[in-house]
Amino acid sequence: QTIARSYIIFVYLSLSLQVKKYLKPFLLSQEKLQEISARLKKNMIQGLGKHTHHKAPVKMLPTFVRATPDGTEKGDFLALDLGGTNFRVLYVRVMEEEQKVLKMDSQICAIPQDIMRGTGEQLFDHIAACLADFLDSQNLKGQTLPLGFTFSFPCEQIEIDKSILIHWTKGFSCSEVEGKDVVKLLRDAIHRRADYDIGSVAMVNDTVGTMMSCGYKDQSCEIGMIIGTGTNACYMEEMKNVKRVEGEDGRMCINTEWGGFGDDGSLEDIQTQFDVVVDKTSINPGIHIFEKMISGMYLGEIVRLLLVKLTEDKLLFKGKTSEALLTPGRFETRFISEIEEQDRGLKNCQNILTELGLKWDSVDVRLVRLVCDTVSIRSAHLCAAALATIVNRIRENRGLDYLKTTVGVDGTVYRKHPNFSDKLQAMVHRLAPNCSITFLVSEDGSGKGAAMVTAVAHLVLLTLNCKLTQDQSM
Ligand code: BGC
Repeated sequence: QTIARSYIIFVYLSLSLQVKKYLKPFLLSQEKLQEISARLKKNMIQGLGKHTHHKAPVKMLPTFVRATPDGTEKGDFLALDLGGTNFRVLYVRVMEEEQKVLKMDSQICAIPQDIMRGTGEQLFDHIAACLADFLDSQNLKGQTLPLGFTFSFPCEQIEIDKSILIHWTKGFSCSEVEGKDVVKLLRDAIHRRADYDIGSVAMVNDTVGTMMSCGYKDQSCEIGMIIGTGTNACYMEEMKNVKRVEGEDGRMCINTEWGGFGDDGSLEDIQTQFDVVVDKTSINPGIHIFEKMISGMYLGEIVRLLLVKLTEDKLLFKGKTSEALLTPGRFETRFISEIEEQDRGLKNCQNILTELGLKWDSVDVRLVRLVCDTVSIRSAHLCAAALATIVNRIRENRGLDYLKTTVGVDGTVYRKHPNFSDKLQAMVHRLAPNCSITFLVSEDGSGKGAAMVTAVAHLVLLTLNCKLTQDQSM
């Protein structure tokens, strides 16, 4: 048995040396990450600039959110959450006394693929129908409650209730929505039904929702980050740096849309051949290059492409692929998390490979785990570089030697992967040594955050006379 074990280790070591050659382009040194962070910083400044933002790949969208919650907002709200494969409706009560956000009830509606890629009218009719069902079940149809709409796509916010979709990301591509006001499309769909109405609407990105819902608990939360199906972050920027919006005082939350980093070709040096294929075969080639190297929608596919290549080059499965392995999308991102589990990872890997119709041996299993590790660590390190850019910027903005801050985080990759958060945190620490960051995983995702934003919007935002400058008009 000892001889057999030593043999396996020997085979693994010699094969892994060869496999590592394929994995090398995925390894980013700390110096490289610093360089990437410096590039992102430049892009962020470009995105904030009055005359440069039009062409900026990192959009740095003003959100109109001018304050983090102070714990005194209250009331009943509806929250909608659209951004992944599901659509959620929530009924939320914000309690002033207990500083609590209570979720009264919620419902999840699936968004079928044909609706994700159909017409905008179909999508919003579907949303309005789900909301109608929910209101019925809660006996709320007679009321016109204010509504927080978490819409997790890049939008140019004209006002808190007017938000123009710039382009779809992730799996969506509904026609007739890009360039249009999403709040109006929602209201129109509700009016077409004519069986209920909604009150005032506040639109937010999920990053903002996450920041707000965490900010309700921890006042120093001034960054929101999502690493799920897509990836993105927002943070509180000094108004004087937000050149597109009138006013110099105070701060405004900026939705960075960091997923678009690299859309001008600036990440070509770190894109591997596998990243290039993932982008080319996606429904939106050329859009959200950074996101495609990081987020849950793409990680599984990167691993699959690597496994196919390694098999074709006879380094895995004795050179025999399977129909499932050759099918795009069949290697799910959740498999990566399962394979990297500390105790059950290898067993999980065996089951997954069997399910994919592959004939594996114990060396294959270990090599597959190595591939998963490498791809997820790169993702965590790229996120770390981007987050470090933000915290370093906040620190410099405020002229501080040392910054203590809190990041509200959400998203399946961050939540479910067994060591993603550790890897990310360790690298941010190295890239932003003068910042101490607390990571707060938002308790109930972005839905509650949207309700919080609605609450804050009513009390704070609408009283601020904050107008966009001429240059911004679309
Ligand atoms: C969208 C962002 C969103 C992120 C996380 C990206 O694809 O562009 O608006 O915040 O996904 O959901």
